[in-house]
Amino acid sequence: MRETKPEAKATAVACANIAFIKYWGRVDSALNIPANGSVSMNLDSLTTTTTVLLDEALPGDALVINDVPTEGRALERVSRHLDAIRDVAGKRWRARVVSRNSFPMGAGMASSAAAYAALTVAAAGAFGLSLDTAQLSALARLGSGSACRSIPAGFVEWQQGHDHASSVAYSIAPPEHWALCDCIAVVAAGEKAVSSLQGHTMAHTSPLYPLRVRTTGPRVRDCREAILARDMVRLGEVTEVDNFMLHAIAMTSEPPIYYWSDETRRVLDAVLTWREQGLPVYLTLDAGPNVHCLCEQAHAEQVTQRLKALPGVLDVLVARPGAGAHLIDEHLIE
Ligand code: DP6
Repeated sequence: MRETKPEAKATAVACANIAFIKYWGRVDSALNIPANGSVSMNLDSLTTTTTVLLDEALPGDALVINDVPTEGRALERVSRHLDAIRDVAGKRWRARVVSRNSFPMGAGMASSAAAYAALTVAAAGAFGLSLDTAQLSALARLGSGSACRSIPAGFVEWQQGHDHASSVAYSIAPPEHWALCDCIAVVAAGEKAVSSLQGHTMAHTSPLYPLRVRTTGPRVRDCREAILARDMVRLGEVTEVDNFMLHAIAMTSEPPIYYWSDETRRVLDAVLTWREQGLPVYLTLDAGPNVHCLCEQAHAEQVTQRLKALPGVLDVLVARPGAGAHLIDEHLIE
């Protein structure tokens, strides 16, 4: 650990990620140890940039997101995460946190993943901690489970693990390994009605939950091998099965959670029809109504144009495999 001063600052950028095999339910909710391993891809155009400025004189942490001073639950969650990093640093200094997203928040686009990965790397940088990727991934996981997958680069696997140090993500392949595209049909840009936190907490109330947990191991392996072999059909098939299992669990939880809207269903129908007609495109959804359509670069333009022409699609965001979370020299606080 290098010597750091209370006015030290650092800025980090992190990508959101889309899970092919998803995290849904936990065995330890304090440490965010998941019920199963998961696999994802970082999304290069969906980033969060965060500056952390340490300030001894502050009465408490302060948070600004997308130029809006933010208090309440969002600030409490950020402060709790900073506490975890302060514990590692052995310093109690408060922080000013300024964060900016390149994509809409709270619409099921895993914005918490990018946010907590960037916050972790920026705060660790400001405190002068020299941590490796696995240590940063474990710390990011405490803020938001899926954030641990936004620390390593490209295609990423989160190993379930059994404690804080072992439940971490690592890179299966770098971004340049495969020109895979995620064409995201945005059908709602507002806050989602049910947070993934509630979904994780209620997952075990579904009678389908034990079946999914039991069968995730082979899907994680299948997914990893499909990525390494750049096999679109195999990746797409295993991703869709896992996606529909997650949503079946959400819909059969007590009380049930329906993340899909009418617009979502219209996009699902269209994608399945296009595939029957020979276009190799597959879909997955996070805890929200937007539809992530996966295809290879050669088909991305066609998929994007077709999605844009569907009624109810507000926008289409296209993302390719992204970098791992990293420090940058331009800061959001002077
Ligand atoms: C459906 O990581 O957002 O996107 O740990 O409560 O922050 P918290 O949950 P979060 O859950 C992600 C759920 C998911 C699937 C996934 O990304 O694996």
